[in-house]
Amino acid sequence: MAGECEKMCLREPRPTPSRDPVVRVSLLLIPLNSLLKRMPSRTRLAPEQLRSHRYLGPDDLRSFGHRSRQKQAGFSTEDFSGKPMIGILNTWNDLISCHAHFRQRVEDIKRGVWQAGGFPVEIPVMGLSETFMKPTSMYYRNFLAMEAEEVLRTYPLDAAVLMVGCDKTTPALLMGALSADVPSIVMPGGPMNRTSWHGEQLASGTDVWRFWAERGAGRMSCEAWCELEDHIAASPGHCMTMGTASTMTALAEVMGMTLAGASSIPATHSGHARMAAMTGRQAVELAWLNVKPSEIMNRASFENAIVTLMAIGGSTNAIVHLMAMAGRTNVELTLEDFDRFSQTTPVLANLRPAGKYVMGDFFDAGGLNALLAEIPDLLQLEAMTVEGQTLKDAIGDAKIWNEEVICRRNKPLCSMGSLAVLKGNLAPDGCVIKPAAAEAPLLQHTGPAAVFRDYPDLKARIDDPALALTKDHVIVLQNAGPLGAPGIPEWGMLPIPKYLLQAGVRDMVRISDARMSGTSYGACVLHVSPESYVGGPLALVQDGDMICLDVAGRRLQLIVSDVELAERRSKWVAPDPKFSRGYGKLYFDETTQANEGCDFRFLHGDGSQDAPPSIY
Ligand code: FES
Repeated sequence: MAGECEKMCLREPRPTPSRDPVVRVSLLLIPLNSLLKRMPSRTRLAPEQLRSHRYLGPDDLRSFGHRSRQKQAGFSTEDFSGKPMIGILNTWNDLISCHAHFRQRVEDIKRGVWQAGGFPVEIPVMGLSETFMKPTSMYYRNFLAMEAEEVLRTYPLDAAVLMVGCDKTTPALLMGALSADVPSIVMPGGPMNRTSWHGEQLASGTDVWRFWAERGAGRMSCEAWCELEDHIAASPGHCMTMGTASTMTALAEVMGMTLAGASSIPATHSGHARMAAMTGRQAVELAWLNVKPSEIMNRASFENAIVTLMAIGGSTNAIVHLMAMAGRTNVELTLEDFDRFSQTTPVLANLRPAGKYVMGDFFDAGGLNALLAEIPDLLQLEAMTVEGQTLKDAIGDAKIWNEEVICRRNKPLCSMGSLAVLKGNLAPDGCVIKPAAAEAPLLQHTGPAAVFRDYPDLKARIDDPALALTKDHVIVLQNAGPLGAPGIPEWGMLPIPKYLLQAGVRDMVRISDARMSGTSYGACVLHVSPESYVGGPLALVQDGDMICLDVAGRRLQLIVSDVELAERRSKWVAPDPKFSRGYGKLYFDETTQANEGCDFRFLHGDGSQDAPPSIY
């Protein structure tokens, strides 16, 4: 029997569908011949047509230098000659703990590249640590995007594997890959393990805010708070809620940039290492067929991403990132696109912060493809993926194994309205709110403003009982936007005064030009555009002004007369520039507003005019 079993195990692909998304990845890894069949217009490159051949192949002085230096690194001619060079952009460093497993994963990817006849080269790029980078990792997203673009452009790479996970790494590397337009595939880092404390399942990020509020309310001891520190992030991997990291890797998958099923696999699952090796193998196929990101990430795939964002109850941050990514293509997205799909897409993922479960449960319940299989009519299923198959093929016959975690279409967590885009005289260019993560009565609310001019002012005064705030007040934070903070940090879940927490208040209407962590929650109006720092109407709000939030009507209105606002505007003084040199100056001179994606203006465009420079 053992011999028979071994033979069975060696047969691939297996004939019956598997419930395991990890196995689905292996089933759907299509051999080159099939890939060519699915992309009939493509021809396999000859070795001498590879980009790397121009560096390593010819009998000339420069190629001698390139080959001799590869040998200096210990490689033989047989290692690199005639093989696609696969760059592995590794965002590991010691301060990005979500990527602690990337030192091993990069070896797994290399294994796959070698197996498929490629030549892997690891290229470390800036790791954007959500936790440690100040004022915010978002300030450096465009920096990493530029680095990735130029690395892909300058080195003799035939394809690249993008190692992403922690929030901004996914959009940054995809933005860079789109601009350089070198064949690329994403290896999502995977969510961290489930963990519990005192018998209660924890959610990284989300529970930090919740327990901090409990501590503020005097219901949690210092000892318990310190003990929580040991449990809240219990393994490598990105945050295990449907925060920004899980959202962005899911969107990378539905846009066709990962192997099918890859984004849901937990970081420490053995299937994650197998997926990494398969990703390396597929990168070699992409190199031979020269399949570029611009061919995968088109209007259809962006719309699929927006639908998926709504169905997973994903992070508001994805709006800014998708706008920035689209800005690197010829796809024209608007905030209205998000609101349109929000009104027709049910929320099916019962995941925190909007729901109950975490990513490990999502994986066990069938993962992203099981969710997508519930809404095929909302997706453009003919969109292509890096496996050379359609999204329909990638989803396959994925099934839901736990309807508590991935809801059925006829029993959604929320029938629609995961995210809402609002406009009004307080946000002429738009702002966003996540209704699913707010207390429902607050979605239609009018109350007096309590204004804080910047974050230090907020920290200094929010708990001052003399302010006498009530649960009906609308807390307003100015100067927390793309330029005002700078970097549009995740300050948007503004703190509720301690005395109100102690009175049992857990949610209030809060408005800022900041972002909010994808793991956060509450009636927080975010990304108000234009921001207050550049003179947006948010800068004109004063204590006591009445503000009306009407989510159903998609309005955010400052109830102050136009005459009075004009008077206030005439007295408004633009702040002095914060930087006179360096990256800060570049950032200030070039960053767009949140409704445009906060990318650098000079990086807009599809990059097709900027072909990799010839080395001769
Ligand atoms: Fe890295 Fe949350 S801190 S994903």
